[in-house]
Amino acid sequence: MFSSPSPFSFVIFGASGHLAQIKLYPALYFLARKERFPHPYNIVGFSRSEMDDASFRSLVESAVREHVPEVNEDALTAFLSHVHYVQGDYSSLDDFGTLSDRLDELESDWKDHVRLAYFSIPPTVFADVSVNLCKGGVKKDGIPLRCIVEKPVGHGLASFESIRDHLLGCFDESDIYLLDHYFGKEAVRNVYYLRYANPLLERLFKNTLIHHVEITAAEMAGLEGRAGYFEAVGTFRDMFQSHLLMITSLLTMRLSEQEESVVHSRTDALNQLYLPPAGSLDEVVLQGQYAGYLDEDGVESGSRTNTFAALKLKSRTSRWEGVPFYLRSGKKMGAKETRISVEFQEPRKAGQDTSPNRLDIILQGEAGMRLHLQTKLGGSEPKFRPLLLSDPLVCMGDCLPEHGLLLLEAIHGMRQWFLTFSEIQTAWRLIDPVQAHLDQSDTPLYPYSEGSEGPSEVDDWIAKDGASWVSVT
Ligand code: BG6
Repeated sequence: MFSSPSPFSFVIFGASGHLAQIKLYPALYFLARKERFPHPYNIVGFSRSEMDDASFRSLVESAVREHVPEVNEDALTAFLSHVHYVQGDYSSLDDFGTLSDRLDELESDWKDHVRLAYFSIPPTVFADVSVNLCKGGVKKDGIPLRCIVEKPVGHGLASFESIRDHLLGCFDESDIYLLDHYFGKEAVRNVYYLRYANPLLERLFKNTLIHHVEITAAEMAGLEGRAGYFEAVGTFRDMFQSHLLMITSLLTMRLSEQEESVVHSRTDALNQLYLPPAGSLDEVVLQGQYAGYLDEDGVESGSRTNTFAALKLKSRTSRWEGVPFYLRSGKKMGAKETRISVEFQEPRKAGQDTSPNRLDIILQGEAGMRLHLQTKLGGSEPKFRPLLLSDPLVCMGDCLPEHGLLLLEAIHGMRQWFLTFSEIQTAWRLIDPVQAHLDQSDTPLYPYSEGSEGPSEVDDWIAKDGASWVSVT
C-alpha cells in the first residue's frame, strides 16, 4: 500500500508547543518503534525556545514517556538519535538559512529524499514560515517539500483564503497536506468503508426509509488549559467546521472505486449540504455554555464563547434529499462519545411499545455498531420488545494512532485522507453565516450543567421536528 521508501527529514515548526508534545512526538515514536519509517530519517524541531539538540531530545523524551503507555527503552533511544533542533525566529530569513544548512548537513549523503514541514504554529505565522521556507533555501530543486497544516485553517472564510494564498505562494497544492485528525481515526474512515463493503447499508441509506440522522460528538473534557485558543473559537467553529461536517460528508458521499475520485465525491457531498430554509437561524442552530466556564483560567468575564452547539442541515443529493441531519457537540458533557445514529421511519403501528429501528455507528467511546430492532413478545397479541444487535468496532490489523497514520501517509505522499482547500472553503461558506448569527449579542446562549447532555432547550429544539436525541452513554 505504501510507496517505495524515500529517506526523509521531518521538520516541526512550533517544536516546543503543546500539540507537538501531546500528539506528534508520541505518534512519531510509535511509528519508529513499529519500524514503519523509511531509513535514513531525521526529525528536526524548529522553534523560538532556547534549546540545543540535547535539551530538545529531553523534551521529546518526556513527551513520549508522558503520552505513550509502554515505552520500549531501546526503541526510544534509537528514535531520539534521529532527533535534532534548530532554534530560530519564524520571521527571520537568516534563521531559515541556518535550518537549510543544518538539513543539508544531516542529509549530506542522501539521494532521492523528501522534506516535510509540519506547521504546529498559530495561523498568524503561517505566512512568514511559508515565505521563509521558500526563500531561505529549505525548498530546493530536486528535493520535494511537503507541508502539513492542522485544522483549523483560518478563523472564517476570509482568513482561510488568506492562509491558502500564502501557502500556494510557496507550495504546489499537491504538496500541501491539510490535516484533520479525525481522518486519521480508523473508526471515522470506516464510515465510508462500512458503506463500501456492505451493499445492504447502501440500500437502507435512502431518504424514503430514513426519518433523520443524528451526529453527536460529546466530550467530557473542558478547556484543558487551552483558553487562549478556545475563547476566540468556541465549539461551533472548533468541531463543526471540520470534524462534524467531514463525518457528514463521509456518510453522504457517493462511493467511488478510484482514490482520486474519493476526494472529489467527498467535496461534492460537502457542497450539497445546506441550511434548511427557516424563519430565523435560531431554528437551525442553538448554542450553550457550561456552568463554570466563566470561572476557568484565561476566560474573559462575561465571555459568550459557546462550548456546546447543535446544527440542523440537509443534503441536496438525491439519496438524502429531505432527511434532516442534526449535529451536536459539547464540552463537559456526560461521556466521551462520537456517534452517528440513523433513525428509520416510524414502524407500522402493529402493536404497542414499538419504536423506530435505529442504526448507531459509534466512532469513539465504546466504538461499535448497534442495530435496534423489535421482536415479538410471547402470546397471541402482537406485542413487541426491543432487540439489540451489537458488535464492537475495534481496529484489528495494522492499527496506528491517528496522527501516526496520517503522518506516515504524508511521508509516503498519500493524500486521500487529507483535506483539500476546496473542502475547507466549502465548510467555511456553510459555517460563516451561522457563526455570524451566533456572535450576535441577542442570540441566546443557554447554560448547561457539567455531565449533562447540553442545555435542556436543545431537546425542545429538536422535538419541534418530531425527533429526539439519543442520550450519550
Ligand atoms: C480538536 C479540537 O480538533 O478536537 C478540540 O480543537 C477537541 O477542542 C478535539 O477537544 C476532540 O478530538 P478527539 O480526538 O478527542 O475527539
